[in-house]
Amino acid sequence: MPVTIFDIKEKYRYQNGFDSYLESEAAPGALPIAQNSPQKPPLGLYAEKLSGTAFTAPRHENKQSWLYRILPSCSHPPFIEVADDTSSPESLTGGKLHYIPNQLRWDPFDHASSPATDFVSGLHHIAGAGDPTLKQGLGMYIYAAAKSMDAHTAFYSADGDLLIVPQEGALDIRTELGYLLVRPMEICVIPRGIRYQVLLADPAQPARGYALELYQNHFALPELGPIGSNGLANARDFQAPVAAFTADHGTTAFDGTTAYTVVAKFNNALFSTRQPHTPFDVVAWHGNYYPYKYDLGRFNTIGSISYDHPDPSIFTVLSAPSERLGTAVADFVIFPPRWLVGEDTFRPPWYHRNTMSEFMGLIQGGYDAKKGGAGGFVPGGASLHNVMSGHGPDAESYEGAREAELKPVKVGGGSCAFMFESCLMVGVTEWGLKRCRKVQEGYSEHSWGGVKVHWTGAGEGRGHLLE
Ligand SMILES: [Fe+2]
Repeated sequence: MPVTIFDIKEKYRYQNGFDSYLESEAAPGALPIAQNSPQKPPLGLYAEKLSGTAFTAPRHENKQSWLYRILPSCSHPPFIEVADDTSSPESLTGGKLHYIPNQLRWDPFDHASSPATDFVSGLHHIAGAGDPTLKQGLGMYIYAAAKSMDAHTAFYSADGDLLIVPQEGALDIRTELGYLLVRPMEICVIPRGIRYQVLLADPAQPARGYALELYQNHFALPELGPIGSNGLANARDFQAPVAAFTADHGTTAFDGTTAYTVVAKFNNALFSTRQPHTPFDVVAWHGNYYPYKYDLGRFNTIGSISYDHPDPSIFTVLSAPSERLGTAVADFVIFPPRWLVGEDTFRPPWYHRNTMSEFMGLIQGGYDAKKGGAGGFVPGGASLHNVMSGHGPDAESYEGAREAELKPVKVGGGSCAFMFESCLMVGVTEWGLKRCRKVQEGYSEHSWGGVKVHWTGAGEGRGHLLE
């Protein structure tokens, strides 16, 4: 049976709002009224609190949800560590991190090499910094899935919140709190601890994309300052699921007849357990700790209408703050279609060295500072310009922009590059440097080896004091 728009609307109903206090029940009366933990919750459910921050976090940072479920999530046999052979294509950890100052660029990453690869086994750690045990830093991932996760398997990460950026193939994500359909040009965030299952929306379309795991804090909308009260990603365009559950259990937690596997990512290692009841048994929930999605096409893009262009922070969709005001552990930034009208302005990104590290990917189309095509910056590939590693337009793009007639022009049509920008120095895994076999040799020479000298001045000089 082909999937129709009516099926989609029925399955994927959403509530709107970023960091809103939401509630949903999939059976009438499942949500207790005026209290969280009654002596006997309605309909024979268990009340379970899911804390995304410390109990005592300030009110404006506090994140929690109350889940009303058929069985509590503690009712499972012990987890057993899944052996991780870092030389295996299914290794999650990607091996140790290498910190190197060179600019790096990757050809498009391969689709899953095995038809048995799903979202979890196809998740590769490519780069990162910090440590999940200290709740500091972040991990960057490439995923490639040839098939849906098993219908009786759920995954969660204790390490952090996962931002997923699909590049090819729509993802049908079933979470404990309900369903999200996440297509390329949309993103989603699955908060730490929430169990979910990633299915391919079209089983014939393999999925590939990028992900960022945030070991500390949570994503927030960036401050808008003088922009005012609207702009960039607007809160109302973030979508959260409505409750959806299945009842599959025995008379107690351990005597059901169907085995469900729960896989946990815990300090970048995988553990699994099998329990005889479904983890997708949350009948109702309320709170502000929930998975959400966002359509990048809804981004309200802002730029210069006089001269020069603002810092690329003007394109920030989501920002995860560090303890230092204005400095992000991770910013998620996009380069959407936009009009360039700057007068007497070099319009592509300027040459740059940054105390932040910049990992870029391309969802679709081209990027205005780099050529596409074989050996270039193309959809499904990536680049990394680490702390103080110089970067900027390649020679061809520079010369073109230097001579361009400065009439209003729309750039980026049909395109969307993005950046994971971090205040941390980012290490690259063995998988990212070697085993993926996608690092472009000679990236630096190809991009900047041909940059021309335009200097017209003398052979030497020295500043002089004003008299
Ligand atoms: Fe930069």
